[in-house]
Amino acid sequence: MNFKAYYEDLTQLHVGTLSNRAYYMPCANAAEAREHPAVSSRCQLLSGDWAFRYYPCAQELSEAFWEADQDSQAVTLPVPSVWQNHGFDRHQYTNVNYPFPYDPPFVPEDNPCGVYRRMFSLPELGGDRLYLNFEGVDSCYFVWINGAFVGFSQVSHSTSEFDVTDFVQAGENRLCVLVFKWCAGSYFEDQDKFRMSGIFRDVYLLRRQTAHIHDFTVTTPLCEDCTRGEIRVHWDATAPLAVTCTLLAPDGSQLASQTSDTGEAAFTLDAPALWSAEHPVQYTLLLETAGETIAQRVGVCRVEVKDGVVLWNGAPVLFRGVNRHDSDPVTGYAISREQALRDLRLMKEHNINAIRTSHYPNAPWFPQLCAEYGFYMIAEADVESHGAQMVVGPQDWTHKFCALAQDTRFGAMVLDRVQRCVMRDKNCAAVAMWSLGNESGYGVNFEAAGRWVKQTDPTRLLQYESSIYHAEGYVNDVSMLDVYSRMYPGTDFIDDYFADPETAKTPMVLCEYVHAMGNGPGDIEDYYARMRKYPGFCGGFVWEWCDHAIYMGRTADGRPKYFYGGDFGEFPHDGNFCMDGLVYPDRTPHTGLREYKNVIRPARAVWEQNGVRLTNELDFTDLSAYLTVEYSLTKNGDCLASGTLELPAIAPHTSAFVPLTLPEPDSGRWYLTLTYRQKADAPLTKAGHVLGFDQLLLLDAPEALPELTAGAVRVQETPAAFVVEGETFRYAFSRRTGLMCEAAMQNRALLTRPMEWNLWRAPTDNDCGISYAWREAGYDRAQPRVYAMTAAVENGLAVVTTELSLAAVARQRILTMTVKWTIGTDGRAALEVDADRDTQMAFLPRFGVRLFLPAALNRFAYRGFGPYESYVDKHHASQYGWYASSVAAQHENYLKPQENGSHTGCDNAAVTAADGFGWRATSRQPFAVNVSPYTQEELAKKAHAYELEPCGETVWCLDVQQSGVGSNSCGPELLKPYRLDAAKLHFALTLAPVDGKQ
Ligand code: GAL
Ligand code: MG
Repeated sequence: MNFKAYYEDLTQLHVGTLSNRAYYMPCANAAEAREHPAVSSRCQLLSGDWAFRYYPCAQELSEAFWEADQDSQAVTLPVPSVWQNHGFDRHQYTNVNYPFPYDPPFVPEDNPCGVYRRMFSLPELGGDRLYLNFEGVDSCYFVWINGAFVGFSQVSHSTSEFDVTDFVQAGENRLCVLVFKWCAGSYFEDQDKFRMSGIFRDVYLLRRQTAHIHDFTVTTPLCEDCTRGEIRVHWDATAPLAVTCTLLAPDGSQLASQTSDTGEAAFTLDAPALWSAEHPVQYTLLLETAGETIAQRVGVCRVEVKDGVVLWNGAPVLFRGVNRHDSDPVTGYAISREQALRDLRLMKEHNINAIRTSHYPNAPWFPQLCAEYGFYMIAEADVESHGAQMVVGPQDWTHKFCALAQDTRFGAMVLDRVQRCVMRDKNCAAVAMWSLGNESGYGVNFEAAGRWVKQTDPTRLLQYESSIYHAEGYVNDVSMLDVYSRMYPGTDFIDDYFADPETAKTPMVLCEYVHAMGNGPGDIEDYYARMRKYPGFCGGFVWEWCDHAIYMGRTADGRPKYFYGGDFGEFPHDGNFCMDGLVYPDRTPHTGLREYKNVIRPARAVWEQNGVRLTNELDFTDLSAYLTVEYSLTKNGDCLASGTLELPAIAPHTSAFVPLTLPEPDSGRWYLTLTYRQKADAPLTKAGHVLGFDQLLLLDAPEALPELTAGAVRVQETPAAFVVEGETFRYAFSRRTGLMCEAAMQNRALLTRPMEWNLWRAPTDNDCGISYAWREAGYDRAQPRVYAMTAAVENGLAVVTTELSLAAVARQRILTMTVKWTIGTDGRAALEVDADRDTQMAFLPRFGVRLFLPAALNRFAYRGFGPYESYVDKHHASQYGWYASSVAAQHENYLKPQENGSHTGCDNAAVTAADGFGWRATSRQPFAVNVSPYTQEELAKKAHAYELEPCGETVWCLDVQQSGVGSNSCGPELLKPYRLDAAKLHFALTLAPVDGKQ
């Protein structure tokens, strides 16, 4: 058989498959259907162990292998799974680049393939028919039963169904499936992901009566104000057929029933229960025919655009979304309901209400879960031809990007993929928008597919981000798109869009934003502020939900090993760009997820005199019905008062004043913290669950630090240092740095190495752009140069003053500084730094000092923004307060190591040993602090978390500030206010040795 003649043929995409239909599971009768079984008595699941044999290319297949009963060289492979996870072929992670030469529709001769075999037994079918379903196979496959060719199909993330009645017999049957890694369709499956192959979703047989419903469509038209509506259904049957349609209320009680042989039925509803992500109530429609019942869950809802605003059931709605792949570090593309549910539970716990199924339809039952648990969906077709833009030539990249979109040979392929997505999921209430795919340029093929969608399903909105690109000389028709979709614009772009009355007529959605790679995102609040400001900005979907990596077992010392792009020796690859999620591969939340959660919290508060003004951020729920509010008042981190607020009714998108009498703040830092807790149990979250918080600064008047105690301090000079000594301490200040090079308290060393000036941080993924400028300026290798240094005792205090600069080899001065240390008799040492920065150089990663402490100093207590790592632009999950931790626990274990664990806004930080011996830093001027068992050099050097080696000391960084983290790994440059770019920097803090008695 000439397999290429099928898989490179653009005129015949499927052979022997039935027409597309909605996803459903037919049951034997109404009682069974009402249970919504994942696998009904009419379904014979063929998932499980199959015999499998892998071939690097089809030439190695034996003649007519599909006729053989078995293959002695086959191994056992589970279905569903991907073969790369079972030792065959190899992993490859590529983003834009195709993993093969760009030569559409041809793919390499060396096209890895796998032969899957299994037996299944059947009873006598009587007059029934039998349908074989594949829910997902990557990338294309040929099917034989009992040696006879049944058909061929493709489109990895879509269902194909074959009528196999005439191929089977009562008793044992042989099923053989040949799967190829690549086919012409692979040009449209260039999604940014690990490229995996095989039968990765369920395979099953459906036994059905000859006359049955093949496809049906449910719509829920509503009157203008949604107080009345209808549930309508129409169906296509294999033969004329009477269908008894029964409507069950959300509580399961029967509302109405009617029998129709016209192919349609309708139920009117007065005051229907409306579906939204906040209230995912669904009716059930039972479609009963002779010998079979189909149950369909129905959410009554309407989505539309009015006056430039996206409305859900007539009210403005905001998508607080994420992009989600079906992905797991162990099972790859093969995802169970339990795995999906774990994602959905975590999303609910973090206030996420929308999912873009990037960049293909997820498992067919996944949209049903979204409807059940309350998530809006952008349901995306299995379409991405991003790699087309990599072609070499003089034209603009956008022209190349649009090549396949404009090439009419691929029109049928694009349409097929879009149709399969819409047809499968069309009856699911959760679908807010269809998406024609991702990053495939624009042109006639997408225009045609878009028109088909709007014609077939006018009840949903349509989005497609790549419509903004056009081939040279071509004017795009985007009239069928309902929203203006973008990815990663800066906040200025959004402001400009809504400032222009012409563009503002079309709602904007960010199908991707705040790229969540590594330490970040740092700018979520800036985007959310605009969503609140512009009614036409209907929300965004964070890129992306989960890090993708391959679990490779554990190291000898028990650390999990995750591999990413390049770790498999593959070419091309895109390194760690696959690890850009809000959760680690094992679903441990990143700090970025906590950040997102609190930015999209359901309530927001501001302090007004004698009370708080609470705003309901929800779209459909009264705030007082949804949550309770606890408050606590702190002064300098210590609690003065706490209690619960009495909430009045607060309708969605409105606010109310809630009186609260508090003591008048006198001095210090006063915060009022409001904690929002879920009021009642919900299917995925429990009553009492913390939904978020507001922390309102009532007074920022930090008290002066206690005066240093004057008395007996001595200053001595050595060739290398100035030595300051008191009764209990001894410090040496280096003549090369102006900083302590030795420090001891009661003869116990407080430093293991000389203190250092610190401008550098282990670049975060989001620093990937700016770190070039940083290296160029020499921030990673800046050396101090002292011009003058003096030390003396003045009024019983030792004073050490240094004039110095920091500069790197071959570069000019970065900072020119005056540094003054004042030391009291008890060893308290006040540091004051005034620095002038060369503003022609890039903004600084950080500015501060680095201390290396004995490893025994392994405890960390601080007052500042915690408990999560926090930066100037990433502190919305953290609260100002007192925290105690260990040095080890401060390390945030990014799988590709990078800067982590800083706490911004600190005014007190102590690193101590078990007996309380150590250091405390205090300041009126908030500073940033990290402690870590790892140096920044180690973090920068190691490619994987499991390779990190602790330096054997405690590394303590005290910074006037660090620059923010942003989301520049794919998003815009770090916003100006978050850059450490001032021309003059002032840094003041006091270091005190402590011995546990303080
Ligand atoms: C987008 C793309 C995503 C992903 C992301 C970078 O351009 O749509 O699939 O590649 O960039 O992580
Ligand atoms: Mg892409």
